[in-house]
Amino acid sequence: MNNLRNLKITIFGGTGFLGRHLIKYLCNHECIIQVPTRSPAKGYFLQPLGDVGQINLIKFDLSDNKKLKNLVENSDIIINLVGILYEKKRNDFIEVHYNFVKKLVDHIKIYKKKFVQVSALGVNKSKDSLYSKSKNQADIYIEKNLEKFLIIRPSLIFGPEDNFFNKFAQMSLISPFLPLIAGGTTKFQPVYVEDVSKGIVTILKKDIKNKIFEFGGPDIFSFKELLQILLESLNRKRLLIYIPKRGAVLLAKFFQLLPNPLLTEDQIKLLENDNIVLDTNYTFKYLDISPVSLKLIIPDYLKRFKKY
Ligand SMILES: NC(=O)c1ccc[n+]([C@@H]2O[C@H](COP(=O)([O-])OP(=O)(O)OC[C@H]3O[C@@H](n4cnc5c(N)ncnc54)[C@H](OP(=O)(O)O)[C@@H]3O)[C@@H](O)[C@H]2O)c1
Repeated sequence: MNNLRNLKITIFGGTGFLGRHLIKYLCNHECIIQVPTRSPAKGYFLQPLGDVGQINLIKFDLSDNKKLKNLVENSDIIINLVGILYEKKRNDFIEVHYNFVKKLVDHIKIYKKKFVQVSALGVNKSKDSLYSKSKNQADIYIEKNLEKFLIIRPSLIFGPEDNFFNKFAQMSLISPFLPLIAGGTTKFQPVYVEDVSKGIVTILKKDIKNKIFEFGGPDIFSFKELLQILLESLNRKRLLIYIPKRGAVLLAKFFQLLPNPLLTEDQIKLLENDNIVLDTNYTFKYLDISPVSLKLIIPDYLKRFKKY
């Protein structure tokens, strides 16, 4: 039985990388999707993922509390995928990751809706990064205030539109080396975007509540190994240059001046902790999902960076 059929699901941040894959799954389950976005025109690419009228893009700004209340009131399930990797003048971590979630949770509490928050793996462990602290504060607020919540903490997500492998593949086109930031020893458990989407939909279908899930792929790789896998799949040789923390901080100070920085000081702080699933029963295994390996997937979508 399809218990998600005809449910109205509002997905904040649905125009992003994870959003487009999750929306495809939810459309297959015959849900009605609302995507509040700063720019509906930029989200038109989502429309073909569903039937006519199944996906509605709604102009929305995070500060519009009245619209937020209406959106919550008119939804069965709310999913939050809004997130930033670096701060800009008007978009700081606390504003986007915490203050917005707090307002959202306050409305959800009144209307007693089900809420899914996509957080990130390790936010409860990382002490110094503002990215993590702001997300962790939001997770704590959700746990304290809601009757029906789910928090999903994925490791590094990979897939055709990802921010990590595409960025380094692009860099390998023009640079004779790739940087091993902070030594390249931080461990990751990369997880496929389709598996994250499948995981969220399975949780909703099984009506699981009040749990924090950690999503990681089948393998653990160091940062250095990730770059080696990337270069192997591109069939390209590049020097991997060790950049100690101090050097990385200097690099970040320079990159932060650019509109879309490759590295920030806050991300260096994130690299101080491994990004792997630890001590929890709530993983893909609990959902009977076997996540797919990075090595099987990236050669296909990174083809465009290959020179034959
Ligand atoms: N990608 C990963 O490897 C990864 C790993 C762990 C956790 N996560 C978390 O998973 C969630 C989804 O990630 P993603 O990779 O899909 O992110 P993404 O591609 O960057 O998309 C995030 C969405 O958030 C919205 N957004 C960003 N800044 C905003 C602002 N200032 N005001 C309003 N909306 C804003 C944007 O929607 P509009 O432009 O349409 O307004 C955007 O589509 C995020 O919370 C992220 O932290 C991601």
